[in-house]
Amino acid sequence: MATPKIILDCDPGHDDAVAILLAARQCDVLAITTVSGNAPLEMTTANALLMCQLAGLDLPVHAGADRPLLVPAAHAPRAHGATGLDGPPRPDVHLEAASNDAVDVIINTARAHDDVWLVPVGPLTNVALAIRQAPDIVERVAGISLMGGAVGPGNVTPTAEFNIWADPHAAQIVFATGAPLVRMAGLNLTHQLCVGPSETAALRAQGGIVPEFVAGLFDFYLAGYRERAGLDAAPMHDPCAVLAVTHPELFTFGARHVEVETSGDVTRGMTVADERPGTDATPNCEVAYSIDAATALELIVDAIRSYG
Ligand code: RIB
Ligand code: CA
Repeated sequence: MATPKIILDCDPGHDDAVAILLAARQCDVLAITTVSGNAPLEMTTANALLMCQLAGLDLPVHAGADRPLLVPAAHAPRAHGATGLDGPPRPDVHLEAASNDAVDVIINTARAHDDVWLVPVGPLTNVALAIRQAPDIVERVAGISLMGGAVGPGNVTPTAEFNIWADPHAAQIVFATGAPLVRMAGLNLTHQLCVGPSETAALRAQGGIVPEFVAGLFDFYLAGYRERAGLDAAPMHDPCAVLAVTHPELFTFGARHVEVETSGDVTRGMTVADERPGTDATPNCEVAYSIDAATALELIVDAIRSYG
């Protein structure tokens, strides 16, 4: 298969940082765009630049939306720290964002290339704004492979996953497009792919600026899951959305009609997948249900180690 052309839209974020490293090895990354999510836009943009600088990636980083479409901005400091990338000592970042025009970059890139995949792994604000401003891109893109939602329990609330909850109106716009192919890597999938102390130790054993930095990220990320959930494993949410494009054979998918709750007090941000047998609802999304976690983890760790 030809190397897929993608735009990685992210809110680094520990798992976003790994998704950047993986995507740079597995994809033709035309642009990285950043959005408010795990941390405020200024920090998610700085974090994307930090990862590009650390890994020596010559990729344009374009900043996007600093708030959701309608709901107030919310962040995830418990999971990612105040900087969005807490844990290892933070190097001085001398790279600068290529622009503050992520939405225009998404539109222009989708129009200039055939078959670009949009890979959003944070709140869907940038992608929704691009679709609303330029509906024609929906037919042009190869697909939208997103990390978000869940068929089952949420994380930020009992029913909602953070990326969807943080901007439910944007998410509804994206799911409503039924773009040629919306692929959803939700929590039900991403919790099958976890890193733990052994992956952290392997990165430290190899050494090198990037593997050691990521080991520090994993230390912080794992400590949070240990404290909050008593788990000695931390899900690699965002890399799943990249692998769903580069290695779809590792997944099983189910065609479902998915809607987003935008107004419920208790269920705001819930992704409601119609799983009724014989439903006549038209599918608008390929929901990922399983992944070959061993192979996926090997691809992720190999990508990180390749920067050593
Ligand atoms: O719920 C997990 C998602 O929220 C991941 O994308 C993580 O980076 C955070 O953005
Ligand atoms: Ca993310």
